[in-house]
Amino acid sequence: MQGKAGTQEKDMQICQTVSQLRAVLAPLRAAGKRIGFVPTMGALHEGHISLARTLREHCDVRVCSIFVNPTQFNDPKDYQAYQVNLERDSEMLRAQGVDVLFSPTVEQIYPPGFQTIVRVTEISKPFEGALRPGHFEGVATVVTILFNAVSPHVAIFGEKDFQQLCLIERMVQDLALDIRIIRGALVRDSDGLALSSRNARLSAAGREDALYISRGLFAAKEAFISGERSSEALEQIVRSYIEKMKDPQVDYIALVDEKNLKRVATAQADTRILVVARVDGVRLLDNIGL
Ligand code: PAJ
Repeated sequence: MQGKAGTQEKDMQICQTVSQLRAVLAPLRAAGKRIGFVPTMGALHEGHISLARTLREHCDVRVCSIFVNPTQFNDPKDYQAYQVNLERDSEMLRAQGVDVLFSPTVEQIYPPGFQTIVRVTEISKPFEGALRPGHFEGVATVVTILFNAVSPHVAIFGEKDFQQLCLIERMVQDLALDIRIIRGALVRDSDGLALSSRNARLSAAGREDALYISRGLFAAKEAFISGERSSEALEQIVRSYIEKMKDPQVDYIALVDEKNLKRVATAQADTRILVVARVDGVRLLDNIGL
């Protein structure tokens, strides 16, 4: 199809049921096409779009899902507040040349009588798992269902949600799923704030305060480059920035091994600093690799 600007655009197929999705993908798979998958909960921004773009290099057919998964919201108010505009989101994906959009209903994913849960026991425990009971079971279960619906050769997850990414990598390995997981780089706004659908809920003053999170991470990375190796000292640098906020509320700051999320006493090149702070009641997740 010829697009408005004269660029080559093919139409994106939108599937609402697993059987529609399988019918669309089966002939492509049979023709030897490699299927790539980007799962999302919609409210798309450049962070999500960058994943779709990166995935292009790794597959022939790109499938994106938009499903606001109720089982991963430990707070029902957070689920109610999650605003998705499917029309706007699908336009963004179409403009990127995504081939298939899977946007199932809650009943499609969790039919009556549903009772199976996927739990990744260790990686689920600390950090987000400790503060959001049931969250990672919701994530692991829905991603397993989505993986089974799409059967991708390759899937991409953002480093923005670093614990989630590690959990998915572990799950794929443990369950012997034949899916290659790619790590997508964290995308920031020009002022440094990590892009998130939740940023829309920040007030103007809150957004200014939120910048101390990334500033703290950048400062810690600078200190690491200059030779600081003590996790405690690097953590303190991040904390000192966050304490400049009007009402600093830190959920955690942790230096962890990038592979298994275990805390480390001495920082190395494969160490990641994870931070969660709350601004205007919004939980903001950020992290940086050293
Ligand atoms: P969602 O929050 O919509 O994120 C979808 C994907 O986009 C995740 O892999 C997330 O890490 C990535 N992402 C979000 N912000 C990003 C940024 N600033 N830079 C790079 N990547 C970013 O994560 C989920 O949805 C859900 O838990 C899901 C995996 C879809 C399961 O329901």
